[in-house]
Amino acid sequence: MIATETISIQKTKNSRLSEVDFNNLSFGSIISDHMLVSDYANGEWGPSKIVPFGHISISPTMLALHYGQVVFEGMKAFKLKDGNISIFRVEKHYDRFCKSMERMCIPHMSFEHFDEALKALVKLDAAWVPANEGCSLYLRPFVFASEERFGVKVADEYKFIIFGGPVGPYYSAPLKVKVEDRYIRAAHGGTGFAKCSGNYGGAFYPTSLARKEGFDQVIWTDGSPELNMEESGTMNVMFLLNNILVTPPISDSILDGVTRDSFITLAKEMGYKVEERKVSAKELIAGFENGTFKEAFGTGTAAVVAPIQTISIKGTNYKLPEVKDDNVSLKIKQRLLEIRMGLKPDTNKWNTIVKP
Ligand code: COI
Repeated sequence: MIATETISIQKTKNSRLSEVDFNNLSFGSIISDHMLVSDYANGEWGPSKIVPFGHISISPTMLALHYGQVVFEGMKAFKLKDGNISIFRVEKHYDRFCKSMERMCIPHMSFEHFDEALKALVKLDAAWVPANEGCSLYLRPFVFASEERFGVKVADEYKFIIFGGPVGPYYSAPLKVKVEDRYIRAAHGGTGFAKCSGNYGGAFYPTSLARKEGFDQVIWTDGSPELNMEESGTMNVMFLLNNILVTPPISDSILDGVTRDSFITLAKEMGYKVEERKVSAKELIAGFENGTFKEAFGTGTAAVVAPIQTISIKGTNYKLPEVKDDNVSLKIKQRLLEIRMGLKPDTNKWNTIVKP
């Protein structure tokens, strides 16, 4: 055992690193050698420890399995050109993690606890951060109610875990999406803004129906007769209408996407006009019909940018112009990539540097 300031480290004796084909990474199947664990009990978060990645033992009565107190983050670490590693927008992810935890009655965690944990894990598994363009080490901090009982209550015990895995591109081709007009993802006053697991589980059924109809994803709406756009699948959604980048405003039913926020910042810096406002199905149809609707895309940590090619609204498929390298979405994506890989100055101070 090696002790850092507060985090104990038990290194694996059987690294799996040599088994990984870094030129052929898919999303979500490969996990790095270690994970970080800390427990909440008796009213406080205990020290973090890093151990070899592996199974954890749980009781069938563990409260998270029954009543759903589970929240997570999706983050990324990148290899910089100088060989160091950057973790992208730790503060913004932490802020959202706290808001999600508060909504789900999960006890607060200090920034130092979250930040030190991430940095220690990334430092130890630095060799797992891919260097190839478009690849990264995806980090999954999550917390769940670990108390063992089946009475309905806010848990008194929780587990915080971070693991990571090298990932490549999430979507390989432009998407065909359906504006979902029967099911909704979130309602005002609900948990839509929180990154809680139930939001994802609840989205599976409508998405699987859309997949059977030949779509890759759905665009969620606010459920109003106007069908105002909310999110696309697991991403925020943006539209280029009349040369203005338009995106639905953050609300209690929309996730405050870190990539969304980064895109808005970079788009403005690059001279594009951005509007955060409601976008109805009627406005999109008018844009298709008069040719002013040029691009649609999803933004998210996993996907980064997912260009949308076809949007189905109330049974009619509308096609956008073919996705090209000079699309606004891809130009902003390129700028983001360059900042994250240390090829352009990090003027917004988004990168937390970890020296391997
Ligand atoms: C992300 O984009 O990081 C997400 O959390 C979405 C999905 C992979 C669950």
